[in-house]
Amino acid sequence: METKNKIFIFDTTLRDGEQAAGNHLNSAEKLEIARQICRLKIDVIEVGFPASSPEDFKAVQLISQEIDGPTICALSRAKKEDIDSCAEALKPAKKNRIHTGIGVSDIHMERKLHKSKEEILKIAVEAVKHAKQYTEDVEFYAEDATRADVKFLSDVLQAVIEAGATVVNIPDTTGYAMPELYGQLIQQLKKNVPNIDKAILSVHCHNDLGLAVANSLAGIRNGARQVECTINGIGERAGNTSLEEVIMGLLTRKDYFQIIPQIQIKELYRTSHLVAYAFGMNVPRNKAIVGSNAFSHSSGIHVDGVLKDRLTYEIINPEDIGFTQSKVILTARTGRHGLKHRLKELGYPPFSQERLEKVYDRFLEIADKKQMIYDEDLVSLMENELNTNVQTYSLDFFQVLSGTDAIPTATVKIKKMENGDETIIMESALGDGPVDAAYKAIDKALDFQVKLVDYNIRAVTSGGSALGEVMVSLSKDGKKVFDHGSSTDVVDASVRAYLDGINKLVIKLQPAD
Ligand code: KIV
Ligand code: ZN
Repeated sequence: METKNKIFIFDTTLRDGEQAAGNHLNSAEKLEIARQICRLKIDVIEVGFPASSPEDFKAVQLISQEIDGPTICALSRAKKEDIDSCAEALKPAKKNRIHTGIGVSDIHMERKLHKSKEEILKIAVEAVKHAKQYTEDVEFYAEDATRADVKFLSDVLQAVIEAGATVVNIPDTTGYAMPELYGQLIQQLKKNVPNIDKAILSVHCHNDLGLAVANSLAGIRNGARQVECTINGIGERAGNTSLEEVIMGLLTRKDYFQIIPQIQIKELYRTSHLVAYAFGMNVPRNKAIVGSNAFSHSSGIHVDGVLKDRLTYEIINPEDIGFTQSKVILTARTGRHGLKHRLKELGYPPFSQERLEKVYDRFLEIADKKQMIYDEDLVSLMENELNTNVQTYSLDFFQVLSGTDAIPTATVKIKKMENGDETIIMESALGDGPVDAAYKAIDKALDFQVKLVDYNIRAVTSGGSALGEVMVSLSKDGKKVFDHGSSTDVVDASVRAYLDGINKLVIKLQPAD
């Protein structure tokens, strides 16, 4: 297939990324993230593996109904039932793709699948033919391709292209490849597979040796025309190819690659934040492109150079990827109109008057404590808006006492809403610290006990009045949720995160109707 200088960007954050994250998202959360990823104007978004669970099926179906723009893709094994499930979930999508495949390395065929080469080839062809009944756009993945026999891999690709595959994916499933060798493999396939011009070659790399981006770029340099990646590089084990890194690599070195990905890079920073937030996986400060230090200069020589000319030490303009050092600062005197206007400038879609009122109330609460509200604070505030759960429990007030000579003590007053009735519960508890005391008081107050699996805290902005963001992971009866809270007061943020997580668990544990 002639694609010359076009590169197709295939995002798999919601499939390969989500598959590995400790925190599994519900379909509403997946939809919210899909909307943001689509603002990047990527070509294909892989949103789940419908046969893996009813929740994943629902998410693929919902995104297929709601998202218009990129091709919506879903994954299946080379099994008829999986493919049928993909087809059903993808039905509402305007453009859809079924991504099916099977292991092709000796180790996968012998030890996992217990099948001969002939059997694998037959299964692969049948799977593609079956998928082809539902959609023109069928992608085939040759799992563990980088540890496979190249002759056999070529035969499989030839056969599946003959059967109708329009894209062939060469995954480095275990992150084993080296850039030069992976590039050579792509080149060999282009040369050896007689009908390769009828399909797009796709690269899909894992990061076990920290080479996923390098390998993907080597594949593209040698003729691959689709790259599969995830926001922040999240994914199985050490992760996948990071979308923002591969895109900025191509753009920054277009002199070398001669390929210009057509995506909205202005949305990269915000998308990275949203994904980090939703999955509870902080972006390391020094992460390329989207880490908070990625554009900070500290040594005297560098600062001097950048002040004279940014280009002395910066190869990317941070504003190009939406990394804004807040220029606009809002305060408690900013009215609804000003807030709405800034949110629009930051790229948020218009929302209802009711939602605006909710955001504005929270904005005022923070502005009263913090005086100056930066863009980063607004982003954090809006991320909390993702949480659209019905609130069974909500915080009325809390009070903590702590100090070097005091035993940390907390009192909480919580409203419980059940079948339209409101009950007020108040409890106090001692703890190892103010947050521990507050959590123990909440545990005493509620007839719903949860396990705190993980707790993380970070500052959203800098300075004494920085907004603190707390992320918690909670579990109960085998269900796990993740939530966050932000406030200028870390105990307040901790309590908000804990209660929101509990509300999520209440919903998750409700029997399905
Ligand atoms: O890494 C891999 O091999 C995959 C395939 C299922 C595409 O994710
Ligand atoms: Zn993968």
